Amino acid sequence: MNITINNREVPVAEGETLIEVARREGFSVPSLCYAANAQHRSSCMVCVVKNCATGQIIPSCSALVSEGMQIETDSEEVRLTRTLSLELLLSDHRADCEAPCRVACPAGFDVAAMNRLYDRERYEEALELLRDSLVIPATLCYICAAPCEKVCRRGDLGSAVAIREVKKELVSKAAAKKIRQPASNGVSVAVIGANPAGLSAAYHLRKQGYEVTVLDKFSSILAPHIPAEQVPADTLSLEVEALKAMGIAFTCSAENPQPDEYRGVVAAVHNNPDPQWVAPATKSKQPARLVLEGRRMAEQLHAALSPDKKATAGQDAKMFNSAYSRFSDSEKRILAAQQLERGNRSACLYCDCDKKVACKLRRYATEYGIKSSRYAKSSICEALKRQAAGEGMWFEQAKCIKCGLCVYNSNNGFTFKNRGFVMQVALPEESVGNVTKNLADLCPTGALTL
Ligand code: SF4
Ligand code: SF4
Ligand code: SF4
Ligand code: FES
Repeated sequence: MNITINNREVPVAEGETLIEVARREGFSVPSLCYAANAQHRSSCMVCVVKNCATGQIIPSCSALVSEGMQIETDSEEVRLTRTLSLELLLSDHRADCEAPCRVACPAGFDVAAMNRLYDRERYEEALELLRDSLVIPATLCYICAAPCEKVCRRGDLGSAVAIREVKKELVSKAAAKKIRQPASNGVSVAVIGANPAGLSAAYHLRKQGYEVTVLDKFSSILAPHIPAEQVPADTLSLEVEALKAMGIAFTCSAENPQPDEYRGVVAAVHNNPDPQWVAPATKSKQPARLVLEGRRMAEQLHAALSPDKKATAGQDAKMFNSAYSRFSDSEKRILAAQQLERGNRSACLYCDCDKKVACKLRRYATEYGIKSSRYAKSSICEALKRQAAGEGMWFEQAKCIKCGLCVYNSNNGFTFKNRGFVMQVALPEESVGNVTKNLADLCPTGALTL
C-alpha cells in the first residue's frame, strides 16, 4: 500500500500508525503522550496531521494508515492546531522552567544551581559555576542592583534568599585555593578595556587557552570602570589577583594594539576604532549584562579563530519559559513545611525545573513560538509540591500534562483521579512500591524526575 506524505509517495504496511511511518520517512512530527514501544492513548493532540483526502485533522500517534491517504505534516493549519494544543496544556501548568532569579539576572546566572551546590557544601564547584558566569562575582555583588533578590520567590515566604551573601561567602572560602592556569594554545589576543565586559572576555579567552593581555589607558586597572568607592579594596584586588593567577596580563597603555602583535582583538569599548575587532553588541551599562556580553565577544573571537566553534552565550534566553505569579496561601503552607524538612542553609526553594533541558513540552513550546498561553492559567495544583515516587523519583503534579504514560506503563502505580477539568494523575502512597524509574524517562515533562 502507498500513501503520500507532504506530496511524496511512501510505502506503508497495514497496521502501521501515521507517526511511525512519518518519522521513518524522515518527517518530523512532535508527540507528548506517545512514546515508541510504550502503552499510550491519544490525548495531547500535538501530533496532529491533516489527511487532505478527507479534510480531517487526525492524531498521527493513533491513526492507522489506509489506502489513498494524502497527509500533510507541516502546513499552517496543522501547526496552528498543534499550537492551540500546546497552549491548552500550558494553561494548566503551574511551574517555572527557569527560576525567576535567573530570568531577572542580566547575566542569566543560574542562582539555583549555585545554591544547590552551596547547600551540599560542594563549594569549589559552586565557585567555578559562579566565576564561569560572572567572572568577578564578589565585585558584582556591590555594583549590581541585584534584581535576582527582588524577584526571589522566597520573598513570598518571609525573606528573599540572600543571594549576594552566598556569593561573597563562596568567593572568600576560595581565597586560599590555588588557581589552575589553563594550558596555553600559543595564540596571543588582546582585550581593550578593563571593565566588566573586558574582564569577562579575557577570562573566557584564557579558559580556551589563549595568551590574553588586557590593555587599558588608565593607570589603575579597573578605574574608572568599576567605582572603587562602592567596592571594598580587598574584594576587588582578590578577584583581579585570581585573573592574574590564571595567566591574564594587564598593561596600562594609551596606544591601541598593533594587528601584528595579536591574532585577534576584543574591543570592550564604545566607539570601536577598527571594524576587524570584536565589539560589544549592547549599549547596556548594567555590569552583569556586560559580563555576559564579554563572554559573547570571547566566543565570537574564538569562533573566528577556530571556525569549527559556534558562539552560544545567551542562547537559553531564547527558550520558552513557563512562569506563574505569586504563591497561594496553601502553597505557602506547603512550602514552609517542605523548607523545614529540607533545612538547607541558603533557604532556596530551587524553583527551576529539573527537566528544563530535556522537557519535550518546553522544546515544542519553543519550536512553535509560544511566549505565554493565550488561555488564563487555571491549575488547581500547588506549585513546587513534590512527592517521593520511589526508586529515587519525584512526582510534581503541577507539571503533569495528564498524558497517562505513567499510568498505562505502571502496574497499579500511577492512576487517574476525578474527571473532567479537575482530573489529575496521582500516586497513592500504597502504590509507590509499584513504580519503576524508567517512568522518569518516559514522562515528557518535569512532572516525574530522578
Ligand atoms: S515541565 Fe517543562 S514546561 Fe514545565 S516547568 Fe518543567 S521544563 Fe518548563
Ligand atoms: S528561592 Fe532560590 S531559585 Fe527561587 S527565586 Fe529565590 S534564589 Fe531563585
Ligand atoms: S506524570 Fe505521568 S501523566 Fe503526568 S506528564 Fe508525566 S507521564 Fe504524563
Ligand atoms: S495525541 Fe498523539 S502524541 Fe499525544
